[in-house]
Amino acid sequence: MRPRRLPPCLAGAALFAALLLLLLHATSSNPPLLSWPSSISSRHPPPPPPASSRFEWGPSRPPSFAYWISGTGGDAPRVLRLLRAVYHPRNRYLLHLDAGAAAEERRALAEAVRSEGEPAWREFRNVDVVGEGYAVDRAGPSVVAAVLHGAAVLLRRGPRWDWLVTLSAEDYPLVTQDDLLYAFSSVSRDLNFIDHTSDLGWKRHERFEKIIVDPSLYMDRNSEPFPSKEIRQMPDAFQIFTGSPWVILSRKFAEHCVYGLDNLPRKLLMYFANTAYSMESYFQTLICNSSDFRNTTVNTDLRYFVWDDPPGLDPVVLNESNYQNMVNSSAAFARRFEEDAPVLKKMDDELLNRSPVQLVPGVWCPNLGKEQMGMDVDSCLKWGDINAVRPGQAGQRLRRYISEISENRGCR
Ligand SMILES: *[C@@H]1O[C@H](CO)[C@@H](O)[C@H](O)[C@H]1NC(C)=O
Ligand SMILES: *[C@@H]1O[C@H](CO)[C@@H](O)[C@H](O)[C@H]1NC(C)=O
Ligand SMILES: *[C@@H]1O[C@H](CO)[C@@H](O)[C@H](O)[C@H]1NC(C)=O
Ligand SMILES: *[C@@H]1O[C@H](CO)[C@@H](O)[C@H](O)[C@H]1NC(C)=O
Repeated sequence: MRPRRLPPCLAGAALFAALLLLLLHATSSNPPLLSWPSSISSRHPPPPPPASSRFEWGPSRPPSFAYWISGTGGDAPRVLRLLRAVYHPRNRYLLHLDAGAAAEERRALAEAVRSEGEPAWREFRNVDVVGEGYAVDRAGPSVVAAVLHGAAVLLRRGPRWDWLVTLSAEDYPLVTQDDLLYAFSSVSRDLNFIDHTSDLGWKRHERFEKIIVDPSLYMDRNSEPFPSKEIRQMPDAFQIFTGSPWVILSRKFAEHCVYGLDNLPRKLLMYFANTAYSMESYFQTLICNSSDFRNTTVNTDLRYFVWDDPPGLDPVVLNESNYQNMVNSSAAFARRFEEDAPVLKKMDDELLNRSPVQLVPGVWCPNLGKEQMGMDVDSCLKWGDINAVRPGQAGQRLRRYISEISENRGCR
């Protein structure tokens, strides 16, 4: 462990300072990424003309997502499987193995993306791996810090994406990217999909009146937050909202969070630096107290999960018995899954039309998975139209659902 210790009472200030430093670093200089260093691209120029020059953007074209995919030690294979399941050349991907993973695993993941992985990843260069694992504990604000840093890097690396999607190694998509891009084509790109409520219930005392200290903010290994004895009053400068920690943020709102165009994002960082499970409240509170963004809020996270009765800290692990409900749910992603769970294979087969070693076929890569000269084509080597998508039934259904729920905006 490197000496980065600070007295716990400084944790809030440390978060603030660390965040600003991280964000400034990420936005002003080269972010510490393991993929596609500029030296490589200059030594091995891609064969002309680069496929990326054929991209067309704008309101009449499919949108683009930026995926923040986070895992911990041992998660590299799951992160790669998830990346294959959500890959599309229009999107951007930032993979993060937190401080629970060894540097060696992080390097191997970057290597898998850079040279051993799919030809498409090399061609479109839209996958990056964070070079340093942030220390996080999901019970504390360190997760918010990591997501904001990820957002800053993604904003810098991808000038075109429309929405930021947060995923973990335990998540899996319920629809193809052709379906998802098609479904989101129908709504304004300013919308934010954030599950929220102002009804705090038991959380009022347990989460907001109690103060915690999250050592992951100032140490370089994952560490559990601990409670402080103090109790604080509910704030009166803003109203607290809480909800699902899984969000889909518009580019504009992500910029608002990262660049802090006004005071509120920073003020709330100070407050949430000492709040348990900040990831369930930071974005909710920020957006619902921002007059410019409140009306862009759609109250859903588009995720499927199942809670035990009584609910545990995590939703239950999904298996085949959840399959039909999951498919019927109109969600875009589901969680949690165990590594290599048989139900993932079923989802690959029936929902994504993907073999375990393939990317998901789409208009951009029409031959994937089709037999050619007696052989299955496992890699996408010839690109189709990267500016078009062809939805299946699931995409049509998701589009109707998203259009419908998007009519109801604002915070309640
Ligand atoms: C905070 O949010 C509530 C509810 O959306 C709103 O009434 C209030 O004006 C907001 N506060 C600020 C400072 O914007
Ligand atoms: C948000 O919606 C409310 C109620 O529909 C409306 O009064 C207000 O002007 C809207 N604000 C913005 C910034 O669009
Ligand atoms: C699925 O998980 C539930 C618990 O959530 C368990 O009761 C059930 O037996 C499991 N089913 C299969 C097919 O593994
Ligand atoms: C899922 O939807 C189909 C068709 O709408 C329906 O027949 C089936 O009963 C549903 N399954 C579950 C588990 O809700």
